[in-house]
Amino acid sequence: MHDAILEAAKECGRLGSVPFFWHESIDSTNTSALQMVRGGFRGPAVVLADRQSGGRGRLGRSWVSPPGTGLYLSVILWPQLEPKDLSKITIAAGLAVSKSIDAEAGLATMIKWPNDVLAAGKKIAGILCESTALASPLGQIAVVLGIGVNVSTPAALFPDELQQRATSLLLASGKHVKRGALLVSLVDELSVQVKRLEQGGFSVILEEWKGRDATFGKRLNWLNAANQVVFGVALGPDKEGRLQVRDFSGRLHEVVSGDVTLSS
Ligand code: BTN
Repeated sequence: MHDAILEAAKECGRLGSVPFFWHESIDSTNTSALQMVRGGFRGPAVVLADRQSGGRGRLGRSWVSPPGTGLYLSVILWPQLEPKDLSKITIAAGLAVSKSIDAEAGLATMIKWPNDVLAAGKKIAGILCESTALASPLGQIAVVLGIGVNVSTPAALFPDELQQRATSLLLASGKHVKRGALLVSLVDELSVQVKRLEQGGFSVILEEWKGRDATFGKRLNWLNAANQVVFGVALGPDKEGRLQVRDFSGRLHEVVSGDVTLSS
């Protein structure tokens, strides 16, 4: 399928006003973006690959990245935020990805805390947020937001263990969405949400996020810092974006990281 927006971005090395780095094949766009920053690259950029041989997911998992079917990108950001507020970017990014998918594919995606995007309960996109602090200018932090979206991935390309848990825009909506259009929508929406965050609008982001919360009121479990599995009911994120869970003895927990699994 001809994709005029993607072809134009490849040709001129820019996506709108942002430098654009295209790779036919790469190990991981996040690794590449982090290397760029550590090697002295400054300013925003979008790194995109047609395929990844070592796509990385959260918690050391891998991200299946076959050619021609997905959007595998990393956005380099230099957010004007206090270090304590950096984790809020992951919530803002989940909202941006969910909204842009809905706008392009006509879906009603939901978000599983912190930022898995789901269509009809199956994962359609994931986000890996990594950061690196610079020695000069001292303390400036670059954030690399790695986003993987299954755009036209057929079910046969998902590994066996993901068959029941993963989907793509095409499978979920029946629509052939062009990667270039989704890319532009996603990068625009991300910049809207990050600006909102920088201007102190996290509470507004959270309210919108809560309208897409896939876990609210559901039973789930997660591995706590002491390596114990805790079972409880999700009460949604608190004002800092931490997931609140009430366990079955009535105790309230704040989950700051890790993975939550919905109980069936
Ligand atoms: C997750 O849900 O576990 C996060 C998946 C993030 C995948 C994307 S694909 C583009 C970027 N490069 C990577 O190696 N990972 C992210």
